[in-house]
Amino acid sequence: MPGQQPVGSEELRERIRKARRVFVLTGAGVSAESGVPTFRGGGRTAVWKGLPFEVISSAGMVERDLPAVWEWFDYRRGVLEKCRPNPAHTALTAWQERFESLTLVTQNIDGLHAAAGSRGVLELHGNIWRARCTRCGARADVRELNDRERPPGCHECGDPMRPDVVLFGEMLPADVYREAAAAASVCDLCFVVGTSAVVYPAAELPVIASRRAYVVEINPEPTPLSELCHEVIHGRAGEVIPAL
Ligand code: APR
Repeated sequence: MPGQQPVGSEELRERIRKARRVFVLTGAGVSAESGVPTFRGGGRTAVWKGLPFEVISSAGMVERDLPAVWEWFDYRRGVLEKCRPNPAHTALTAWQERFESLTLVTQNIDGLHAAAGSRGVLELHGNIWRARCTRCGARADVRELNDRERPPGCHECGDPMRPDVVLFGEMLPADVYREAAAAASVCDLCFVVGTSAVVYPAAELPVIASRRAYVVEINPEPTPLSELCHEVIHGRAGEVIPAL
């Protein structure tokens, strides 16, 4: 729009024009404008019934009190049901056609990238709409399970199912992380959007990319990653990404 300040530097616009392999890592901030609460940012962390989310969202809690874990994730699904992809999600979907190769990696379990039409999203921390059997590993869409049964029983072996998300104290799915790290190591442009960059190994991916790529952070607030980035754009994802 005439008179509107272009977003980012001329160097970034030049690199976007030339880029072939683009890598994008997103966090809770990319869904903030869809109404999804972030975990940190603004100096606070989420709490559920007096329990810090690191506790209610932990492997230990699945052992100790699986019904409570389901209650917490049912509550979050209740919040997410009302949330729709925002212009950041939609713009990233369009990037799939714009670049020769786009790898979209997210820490979010909300499924909003896929809901916006993004294909092959690498979900590092799983997906809140999926459940997994605690014994045989069978997966199911939570919306197809009997929601009065908590925990729901596995349709394969009958054992209790748990949310198919990576909880605190658990490893990321190795194959998903390996694929993300491989893409980060060969990209020529890397965007880090809406993450506080304090949770590993996800926060390692931009470091891998920085060995050869131009790394850009998009976040209203500085993070521990900011100094490593070639460029930092202090703004909201829903405004910055569509403008790029
Ligand atoms: N646009 C861009 N960034 C934003 C916006 C916005 N509109 N609003 C907030 N942010 C930024 C905040 O400044 C903060 O740096 O998003 C970041 C959100 O940080 P966290 O809440 O820590 O979320 P994230 O980095 O994704 O957390 C990583 O931790 O809790 C675990 O498994 C969970 O995947 C999550 C992981």
